[in-house]
Amino acid sequence: MADSQGFVGVFDSGVGGISILKCLIDELPHEDFRFFGDSANAPYGDRSADEVLALSRAITDAMVSEGAKAVVIACNTATAAAAEPLRRAYPDVPIIGVEPALKPAVLANLQGRVLVMATALTLSLEKFHRLSKRWGSAAEVIPVPCVGLVDRIEHGDLDANDLHALLESLVGEHRGSVDGVVLGCTHYPFVKQQIREVLGDVAFYDSGEGTARRLRSQLEEHGLLATRDRAGTVSFASSRDTQEELALYERFFAMQI
Ligand code: DGL
Repeated sequence: MADSQGFVGVFDSGVGGISILKCLIDELPHEDFRFFGDSANAPYGDRSADEVLALSRAITDAMVSEGAKAVVIACNTATAAAAEPLRRAYPDVPIIGVEPALKPAVLANLQGRVLVMATALTLSLEKFHRLSKRWGSAAEVIPVPCVGLVDRIEHGDLDANDLHALLESLVGEHRGSVDGVVLGCTHYPFVKQQIREVLGDVAFYDSGEGTARRLRSQLEEHGLLATRDRAGTVSFASSRDTQEELALYERFFAMQI
């Protein structure tokens, strides 16, 4: 049975979920967080939904058996593929997912043009189709499957010329003609500045703060909020278990986004 002394497990296919983790810590500084990045199996967005479900299930099983009181799926792709089955498997553990922040983007840009940058898998699944149908009449919603972008970010060199060239080929055609950009993959907030260099001054929308508020309300509802006064702890683990990889996670964690 989960109890308030337990930790919050947070996972993603790799470094991207660290953008969510930072918001979770801002919102809930007394909680202990354990982050797991499945970098050995990234990118999830190029896999089948069944594969992403199996990978997400294995990570969640391990976190719950180690004492997680809640699990945050800090990945849009894994949320779309796995959140519902995982909630059915663990009815007593709050499982919080992320989804592209299309609602706030559309509400802030009514009748405007809104790009949704996400993985090919996220954009192909029912969850996004429903979201797009719900909000697509109030603004023009333009989905952009960003094949290759997670891979580039996982390499860690965010100033590389080929990263800039990839962004140019993915979104360059929309320069000067979009009002808002939804960062529908948790890796992308780390390249916000690089996207701005291609698209100019646009408004960005991501899922970090909304996910953090949702985690707080779920912990409150289940009586699982940490009761201690000290600051919480944070630890990192990766399926690519090397010093270099963990140093990369620490570097992304320290980054201003
Ligand atoms: N950060 C994941 C997401 O939010 C990336 C998925 C991937 O590995 O392709 O979708």
